[in-house]
Amino acid sequence: MKLYRKEGNILQILSSPNENIEKGDYLLVEDSDANKALIAQVIDVQFASVPGVLEELLRSLPDDGELVQGEDFDPLEIAPHVTYIQDASLLMCRIRATVENGNLSPSSSWLPSRSQSSIKKLPIPKLLELAHVNGRLPIILGETKDSSPLAIDATHLDGRLNIITGKKETGKSHLSKLLMTSLVGYKATVVVFDLNGEYLSLGMTSDGKRNANYDKIHVLTPSQNFQVALKQLNLHVLLGILIHALHLPGTSAREFRRIWQSLREKNMLSLHELGEAIRNWNCNQHVRDALFARYHSLLNSGFFTDNVAEAAALEDSMLKAKEEGGALIVNLRSTSAIDRQIVVEYVLGKLVESLTSMKLKAVFLFAEEAHLYLRETYWDDIVTRMRHFGIFTTFITNQPDTIRENIYRQADNIFLFNFTNEHDLDVVSRAARVDAETVRSIARDLPPQHCLALGKVVKDFPMVVKTKTIDVKTMGETRLFFKDLA
Ligand SMILES: Nc1ncnc2c1ncn2[C@@H]1O[C@H](COP(=O)(O)OP(=O)(O)OP(=O)(O)O)[C@@H](O)[C@H]1O
Ligand SMILES: [Mg+2]
Repeated sequence: MKLYRKEGNILQILSSPNENIEKGDYLLVEDSDANKALIAQVIDVQFASVPGVLEELLRSLPDDGELVQGEDFDPLEIAPHVTYIQDASLLMCRIRATVENGNLSPSSSWLPSRSQSSIKKLPIPKLLELAHVNGRLPIILGETKDSSPLAIDATHLDGRLNIITGKKETGKSHLSKLLMTSLVGYKATVVVFDLNGEYLSLGMTSDGKRNANYDKIHVLTPSQNFQVALKQLNLHVLLGILIHALHLPGTSAREFRRIWQSLREKNMLSLHELGEAIRNWNCNQHVRDALFARYHSLLNSGFFTDNVAEAAALEDSMLKAKEEGGALIVNLRSTSAIDRQIVVEYVLGKLVESLTSMKLKAVFLFAEEAHLYLRETYWDDIVTRMRHFGIFTTFITNQPDTIRENIYRQADNIFLFNFTNEHDLDVVSRAARVDAETVRSIARDLPPQHCLALGKVVKDFPMVVKTKTIDVKTMGETRLFFKDLA
């Protein structure tokens, strides 16, 4: 390989066909005189444009001063070079770092010598070692192209905002399961908003036996094993539900607060009493109607109960998940859109409450297709307020434009699966942690189950990895009519 040009932080490198370099590979451009090296990643492979390259190669041929004239003679031995040139490729490489005395720095301001530099492929294990990607709490994501394992450090997910995105069926939920079960293995508390009921059997192996996580997976199905007793409900959380999930106007919310306080003083907080109190409350008819409508939504959701014993699921599993690590899977599969918002509002309210009172240390939240249940104002909250409380979110979606732009800007880690659609690629390339060319060029060619890991977990060295299999019973499969024939 030979250095051809440098423009900004793009290096153009000439490569012969037998060098077998592909997109995503890392190269080390060593300048022995300067005692430094550049680490560059191939982001595109093009045909070399012949005239420029020819000149370049001719210039570098040995000139032994013995030119002989003759017809059938090829004095400069050009013929092999011509074929070489025809097949030569031009590697567009983005400079990622400079190595000097074994230390990495992001600088790319120096120019390696064209004549003295040697260029070779940088094996991924060597790069991982240089960049200190492996840490004390490794999570093996899978294998890189040269079949070396890629392990990220769980601490690089801690306190972070992550996005898993890609086309349908490329393996996003699979990776999310891999990450969250690994975190549980390190005794973390995880909460999953499971839209399709595909995280429910993570405690089972594929052949239906219990696995090591069996006791740590707590499935909460709203209105079945997951209900809330009014008596245990914090007014603040309930008002959150009324205002944000059920859009109760401010004036009516103030009335509701009074009703609630009066019932609580009389120790009469029950669904029935709440209904009666609204009916008999001395207030404007519009306010009463508004309150009644919301009361019925609460009632119909089946999520609220007067039975305190039945209502302990969330608290119980939180307690268990706190001690030994565990995952609370909020199963939203059969929950209607409006009830989903009620449940999510409740869970988030409860999490914030438990985190402020130090009942929980911190929580890793995995949210599948969050736009289907997350209210408007939560998007900003998640990057600011929620993070401050200790809720570290991973968004998983196949529609990248449903995630707010500021989330891309703030994301610390992005796991990007295949995208071919221009619009989708545009959205993702707004992420601050990576340049648009890398996203566009690499994401387009990713096979299923391969993702481009970007951000802190790979120390900003974008890396393609084939995610490893996990031995759990999967439930996310799409229901098919002709399944038996497939
Ligand atoms: N690394 C892997 N090894 C083995 N099977 C995998 C792997 N990754 C994904 N799969 C399987 O491929 C299928 C699709 O994966 P998954 O459900 O994770 O895709 P998805 O991107 O979440 O799809 P959707 O957009 O429909 O939610 C699943 O049956 C899953 O079990
Ligand atoms: Mg999925």
